[in-house]
Amino acid sequence: MKFIKNPSVFISVLGAYVAAILYPWVTGFMFLATLNFFILLIGFTYRQKDQRKHALLMTLGIVSDLAIVLTLQVQRNAVATAIAFKLSALNQAHIFCSTSATVLYFPMIYLGYQLIQKKSGPQTKTLHRKLGYATLILRGLGFFLMFSMLKL
Ligand code: HEM
Repeated sequence: MKFIKNPSVFISVLGAYVAAILYPWVTGFMFLATLNFFILLIGFTYRQKDQRKHALLMTLGIVSDLAIVLTLQVQRNAVATAIAFKLSALNQAHIFCSTSATVLYFPMIYLGYQLIQKKSGPQTKTLHRKLGYATLILRGLGFFLMFSMLKL
């Protein structure tokens, strides 16, 4: 039970478990979005102990999330559907949270690379930390609300 004390290992095991349970029920996009969310959570656990691992995992999760958003936009014109307000309140909430997190990804990457290159002052770290918590909360809410999109 030692692994439970290590947050990154614990989240990896939990992520694999959640992905295995969801696999038969969810679409490919939802499955990938689930994996991305767990990659972001694992990366988050490294924010203090290993900056390089933190940066690598966060960038991977963000780029993969952006690829989903771009694909959905091209294939299904997702923004137009959202703006038309044809969806339920929970679906709209999912789109609101996920879009806000996606917008925040850009300053997060910019601030993160400023920190890596040590080009910045203490304000950059404070801003990265505050925006980081907001981004992760929005991404987490978007993740749970995503299941309202399932047509069972
Ligand atoms: C949604 C994405 C991200 C979130 C939620 C996030 C969150 C955080 C948080 C909360 C901290 C503060 C840790 C502390 O309290 O000491 C931090 C530190 C840091 N982050 Fe991120 N981060 C994200 C993306 C990135 C990216 C993309 C990079 C680089 C490419 C990056 C590079 C760093 C670095 C270098 C630090 C350490 C700063 C220092 O200790 O001086 N982060 N991150």
